Amino acid sequence: MIMRIDILTLFPEIALAPLNESIIKRAQAAGIVEIYAHNLRDWALSKHRKADDTLCGGGPGMLLKPEPLFAAIEELRGPDTKVILMTPQGTVFRQSVACELSQEGHLLLVCGHYEGVDQRVIDELIDVELSIGDYVLTNGAIAAAVVADAIVRLLPGALGDEMSSVDESFRDPHLLEAPAYTKPAEFRGLHVPEVLLSGHHAKIMAWQKEQAMQRTKVNRPDLWEKFQQEKFQQEKGE
Ligand code: ADE
Repeated sequence: MIMRIDILTLFPEIALAPLNESIIKRAQAAGIVEIYAHNLRDWALSKHRKADDTLCGGGPGMLLKPEPLFAAIEELRGPDTKVILMTPQGTVFRQSVACELSQEGHLLLVCGHYEGVDQRVIDELIDVELSIGDYVLTNGAIAAAVVADAIVRLLPGALGDEMSSVDESFRDPHLLEAPAYTKPAEFRGLHVPEVLLSGHHAKIMAWQKEQAMQRTKVNRPDLWEKFQQEKFQQEKGE
């Protein structure tokens, strides 16, 4: 089954630009995924095709109006579509969420703009609210491109044999990757760690694990905490 992704936004070019290059472009050409972006303004029927309005109850900024969003989503969704709103108020998008969503047949990514969307749209039409991180973008189309990219690269065949994403699922989700080196073995007096040139598989694995733990401890104390908890649980269970 070919996956289909529709993106509903005021800025279709922003959403599509990163998806029409390189790996995701090839995935589309290979018939692994179909990606379409739609301009929300096409469903705005007022004289000036206005898609946004001021906040009820006052406050700064503008909100996307319900009428165009209802019309567009009702037209673009099918019986099995997962309708996702990109918003900083959503649950956090992680690799595990990308894996789950890569099993779906049809995704409709709805992009907020300005202060967001009218709550009635969320209550009636949205299945999942997703945030790509704890920061505010000007435009949900950027977030939609991030989400689409992370999902499409997981589809079978998208990365090609030489870069399969299958290996990733064997990695510890609570550890960052170890430092990596390529040739030459010496560059400007900087040496690739001896162990990586030793050909000793077990030693290399042990070194990588140690380095991954060090890096996680320093860069991601939140993940390190989870890693230790998991290890503790495993040891207790043994
Ligand atoms: N729109 C604005 N900021 C966002 C974020 N962090 N994630 C998803 N959509 C957004």
